[in-house]
Amino acid sequence: MNAIAGLYTAYRAHLQLKSANVISSIAARTRAIGAICESSQYLAARMHGAITDPNAAPVVELGAGFGSVTQLLPENAVSLELEEERYNYLREMYPNRRVLDECAIQFVSNLEEPTIVVSCIPSVNNPEFARLRAAVAQSRQRGMITELITYTYFPTNNPFSGIFSAEQLAGLELRNVPPAFVWKYKC
Ligand SMILES: C[S@@+](CC[C@H](N)C(=O)[O-])C[C@H]1O[C@@H](n2cnc3c(N)ncnc32)[C@H](O)[C@@H]1O
Repeated sequence: MNAIAGLYTAYRAHLQLKSANVISSIAARTRAIGAICESSQYLAARMHGAITDPNAAPVVELGAGFGSVTQLLPENAVSLELEEERYNYLREMYPNRRVLDECAIQFVSNLEEPTIVVSCIPSVNNPEFARLRAAVAQSRQRGMITELITYTYFPTNNPFSGIFSAEQLAGLELRNVPPAFVWKYKC
């Protein structure tokens, strides 16, 4: 019970909410960003830790949001974010980084060198996810994705199943709201 109360308090603090707003906020955020909440520093660290070697190839981050993962990636990583407020925030926070307001689907389709992909783009309730999955499959076939890291809220939802020769649940982060599963895909 204490754990649930703790998570509830963490969620309110994270979104700077009054308690009465929590349910409507969940609905609004799910509509706006396709996720209940931005990813926490804990989930970001777990995703970063799942990368075999962040310096082994160029890194591209899909759906950088408010930058919890961005800040952990190598200086030369490219971070994509379409939503205007988040994009402006990232540009201000990381003036020396390559932050682009480009669509992740297009960018992945056009990869020209073997790349490590870190995706925060939701796979559930996202009408565009099938197109992202197809773009990943096609670029993977061309040898342009060496590794892909993402997360889901359910262990049964394997968003890029069948595309890579190795796929694994690389961890569960309980300190995220809600708890999240990290997936790792490799050639
Ligand atoms: C779950 S949120 C980001 C989580 C992020 N790690 C954070 O800490 O805020 C997903 C993000 O993907 C962005 N997004 C969704 N579809 C996109 C696309 N096709 N191209 C680029 N960004 C996209 C959304 O605007 C949203 O900010």
